[in-house]
Amino acid sequence: MKEMQIVRQSGGALAFLAGVLAALVIGWWIFPQVLFSKQEQPIRFSHQVHVVGQDMACDDCHFYREDGSFAGLPTNEKCGECHEDVMGEDPAEEKYVTEYYQEGKEVPWLIYQYQPDNVYFSHNAHQQYDCTECHPNLADNDSPPPYYRNRISGYSKDTMKMWRCERCHAQNHVSNACYVCHK
Ligand code: HEC
Ligand code: HEC
Ligand code: HEC
Ligand code: HEC
Ligand code: HEC
Repeated sequence: MKEMQIVRQSGGALAFLAGVLAALVIGWWIFPQVLFSKQEQPIRFSHQVHVVGQDMACDDCHFYREDGSFAGLPTNEKCGECHEDVMGEDPAEEKYVTEYYQEGKEVPWLIYQYQPDNVYFSHNAHQQYDCTECHPNLADNDSPPPYYRNRISGYSKDTMKMWRCERCHAQNHVSNACYVCHK
């Protein structure tokens, strides 16, 4: 009798541990995989090869126009200065040149930081800050990090959350009235 009880008790403890483990696996591993779909950039573009290897400055490709507006991403016009024809052995370069540049198609880059449509953001007002204040530090990357798209909202996992915008605004005495960011 006594032995039976011990066996039953430890069976219960094991079942409990198994339950905890299952919850952890679902919560930390499976749920994020179900919620986010992983996507790769259409072209494996290396910031390092261009910034370090070619000695290019950030604002060769990402610059503020004279009127203060932000040009955002470079287009084929910029890339074509060097990539009119395939020059190296890298298949990513060949893909860019033959499937995009020579076809006259712009690359549909995925933007880690894109905001929902109801949010108004302009780089103008934020020129004083370093890019990495708000963006992942891509400059040191040899290949772009994966992009995680939230299957429910459709937005990037790296989209800056409202509380982060508001925290910096509060610290700098910028208004946090809803209409400042939601038009
Ligand atoms: C030769 C052109 C080129 C240069 C020079 C360049 N970039 Fe980029 N950058 C790109 C392209 C193309 C993308 C889009 C693909 C990607 O995200 O890797 C991009 C994306 C980015 C993004 C991502 C925005 C987002 O949220 O998706 C940031 C931030 C960025 N670059 C910062 C920098 C910084 C900082 C430097 C200088 C150290 C720099 N870049 C130099 C071409 C360039
Ligand atoms: C100043 C010249 C220059 C400009 C401008 C330039 N590249 Fe490059 N790029 C290079 C060189 C040099 C290499 C290395 C060549 C090789 O593959 O052997 C390279 C490599 C690449 C590669 C291979 C993978 C990698 O990043 O190493 C891709 C893809 C690429 N470039 C795309 C682009 C795109 C897209 C733009 C515009 C946003 C661009 N490049 C602008 C010079 C340039
Ligand atoms: C105060 C935060 C902040 C800073 C600083 C900042 N960005 Fe952004 N960036 C954003 C947000 C937010 C978006 C998304 C805008 C949207 O969805 O309309 C964005 C979008 C972008 C895009 C996508 C194309 C576009 O124009 O929307 C690029 C490229 C980019 N940023 C590069 C940079 C670079 C390079 C720097 C540094 C010179 C920089 N950003 C500084 C917050 C910032
Ligand atoms: C690191 C600090 C910082 C972060 C992060 C930040 N902001 Fe700002 N923002 C400022 C400052 C400072 C100003 C005031 C600039 C000025 O008046 O010249 C400002 C001004 C603004 C304005 C008013 C600009 C105008 O043209 O009237 C808007 C809109 C705005 N921010 C939206 C956002 C959004 C949306 C986010 C998050 C995605 C964000 N900001 C994140 C510091 C920040
Ligand atoms: C400094 C900029 C800023 C201010 C001020 C601000 N928001 Fe936001 N809001 C954002 C950003 C960025 C997002 C998207 C990211 C997120 O969901 O956190 C957002 C998202 C939201 C959402 C979710 C919408 C969606 O599509 O998921 C609601 C609701 C919202 N805000 C309401 C408000 C209200 C109400 C106020 C005023 C009390 C306010 N916000 C003030 C920047 C701001």
